[in-house]
Amino acid sequence: MRWRNEQIYHLRQNKVLTEKDQEQYFDTVVRQLFEQDFPNQILFSYLENGICIGYGGLVHINWIDKNAEISFIIKTELEETSFEFHWEKYLSILSQIAFRGLSLHKIYTYAFDLRPRLYVALKRAGFDHEATLKDHCFFEGKYIDVLYHAKLNTLSLRAATLLDCNLTYVWASDPCTRKYSFNQNQIEKKEHIEWFNNKIQDPNCFYFILEDSMRNPLGSVRIDVKENNQGIISYLIDSKYYGRGLGTAILRLAEEKAKDIKIPIDRLIGYVLKENIASIKIFNKLDYSVINESENLKFYKELQ
Ligand SMILES: CC(C)(COP(=O)(O)OP(=O)(O)OC[C@H]1O[C@@H](n2cnc3c(N)ncnc32)[C@H](O)[C@@H]1OP(=O)(O)O)[C@@H](O)C(=O)NCCC(=O)NCCS
Repeated sequence: MRWRNEQIYHLRQNKVLTEKDQEQYFDTVVRQLFEQDFPNQILFSYLENGICIGYGGLVHINWIDKNAEISFIIKTELEETSFEFHWEKYLSILSQIAFRGLSLHKIYTYAFDLRPRLYVALKRAGFDHEATLKDHCFFEGKYIDVLYHAKLNTLSLRAATLLDCNLTYVWASDPCTRKYSFNQNQIEKKEHIEWFNNKIQDPNCFYFILEDSMRNPLGSVRIDVKENNQGIISYLIDSKYYGRGLGTAILRLAEEKAKDIKIPIDRLIGYVLKENIASIKIFNKLDYSVINESENLKFYKELQ
């Protein structure tokens, strides 16, 4: 409350807060956030050696469009001495929470054009200036601009390398993955190492890792090119991140890659166990045709 009142000039707050206001706000708004599955804001204390020196969070969260605004305020004394340092640190921690923890697609700041030091920190933390809203707010007798900066969580595929051997073993042996594999036996580490080395050296195998914009690995997809230019797709998402649209995203990106790799691929094929509802939904959503085989479904799509 004290920090907010001291820095009222840059906040969207039109009166000095009292203790009663603050208690009421915590009681009626903040308390409830802890009970909700999809709160419209998630707030954090920002600590240095266990002491709170700032607070903020993701606010106006839109769970459908997967975006959120960033809010942050630090102890007033630090504004002068270490503003850029703390903003940059905070933005980097919050990007991890937003992109890795919550799989949001975009985070942004909406700021009155009053604190040029903020733009230095935003730039260093990988935010782009996306828009200026001219004369957007009335402030001390005149209209001022509002600047909008944003950072996108762009998902991409990169080629798998030897360094991914351990991670891909962890993913492959996860019971959530094994449950929907055609071979449900446990995988031995030694066996995986040999298999993985062969795969990444095989000129007919294209093996990719899905990453977010912070380069966190999220899943993998393999296209094994067989006779008649058919590309057999196998993909998985790290089970920590299920249900956030990443399965759909990885298959979409794999289709783009399949059109781009050195060997021409005419048709993509995915074999799916009949009880693998999530994967069935994904292939259907991406307009694959389907053939009902005895134990599985064969999904296919012509690329040419
Ligand atoms: C299949 C897999 C990649 C899905 O990943 P995901 O990131 O959870 O997928 P998405 O979040 O994009 O969800 C896809 C759809 O399935 C639905 N879904 C996800 N989990 C589900 C479940 N357990 N039961 C029913 N539907 C489910 C989602 O709601 C979504 O449907 P919608 O688009 O209509 O909302 C993941 O479960 C996985 O890695 N499984 C093990 C490996 C595997 O089965 N690979 C495919 C073999 S071909």
